Amino acid sequence: MPENVTPQQLAETHEQALREFNSINDLESLKTFASETVGKKSNLGNWFAQLKTLDVETKKELGPKLQAFKNYWEQACMTAQQEIETAILNEKLKSDFIDVSQSYPARKGAMHPLSQVQRHIEKIFTGMGFEIADGPEVETEWHNFDALNVPENHPARDMQDTFFVNSTKDESLKNSVLRTQTSNIQIRKMLEKGAPVRIIAPGRVYRNEDVDATHDAMFYQVEGLVVDENISVSHLKGTLETMLSAVFAKTMKVRIRPGYFPFVEPGLEVDIWWEYTDKNGNEKGRWLEFCGAGMVHPNVLRNSNVDPEKYSGFAFGFGLTRLVMMKYGIEDIRLLASNKREFLQQF
Ligand code: DAH
Repeated sequence: MPENVTPQQLAETHEQALREFNSINDLESLKTFASETVGKKSNLGNWFAQLKTLDVETKKELGPKLQAFKNYWEQACMTAQQEIETAILNEKLKSDFIDVSQSYPARKGAMHPLSQVQRHIEKIFTGMGFEIADGPEVETEWHNFDALNVPENHPARDMQDTFFVNSTKDESLKNSVLRTQTSNIQIRKMLEKGAPVRIIAPGRVYRNEDVDATHDAMFYQVEGLVVDENISVSHLKGTLETMLSAVFAKTMKVRIRPGYFPFVEPGLEVDIWWEYTDKNGNEKGRWLEFCGAGMVHPNVLRNSNVDPEKYSGFAFGFGLTRLVMMKYGIEDIRLLASNKREFLQQF
């Protein structure tokens, strides 16, 4: 420890420090350097203490020099510390690097199976000269039931477990229902366009069902209506066979038997011949109920301002949801609205 500090000594110390400082590249050495250069136990500390004992002139000369030395090295050490820390962090980031984009790889979506089959069906029918029609899901009781020849107290209204919409606030929703069938579009289209008419109407329908693997409170139907002169049941059969054969990409057999629906006379049930492989690997086949259909009831034509003396027609309504389940072998209807990626990725 020098007895008396001189400006020259200070300059030499500074030079010496500069040389040492340039070779420092880790925090540990920097810490030692800082403590030796500007720390409490450094020469600088002693020199400041010595100042008091010096005469005024020397104090005046030396004081600011000591202060400048102190400021310089404090600042230099702080900057160096930041630089070294940044370098360490950058080095760490190189190995610890997390590729945020990679943890969320681009997942390609696919069209929902219901939409795929619906579009296919729309293509098939437009190819046969049909129009695609649409209409409200909150429907008047009149369009959903009365106009379709379903009398007020008819059990068919119970048959379809209706959701009634009873808005006390909105007058236009009085006597409304969530449509239980797409047959409402028959009425709407004929009132709008008259006859002849050739439409399909795919869409959602609602029923107050207890939900299980085969029932949902919302599902999809496709309604079909052809009204023209000289329309017969064979047109209906041919139309459905054409559509089904296209959907399943093989010739499909259709069977027609009597059924009951208030809006058709005669009313028909359409079955399809369903081929499948049983548990033991044997090729099997059986008749499967496919849809309701029939020749449009004269009352329905009248309610839609179409002359039943001049025009006749056929109508059908099938469950699109059920058709999709059959096509893909889906056993639980709830999967279709589950939004599960594992399920949807398969299509
Ligand atoms: N709307 C009927 C239902 O939901 C299905 C139906 C049957 C539609 C006969 C028709 C038809 O157009 O003619 O059960």
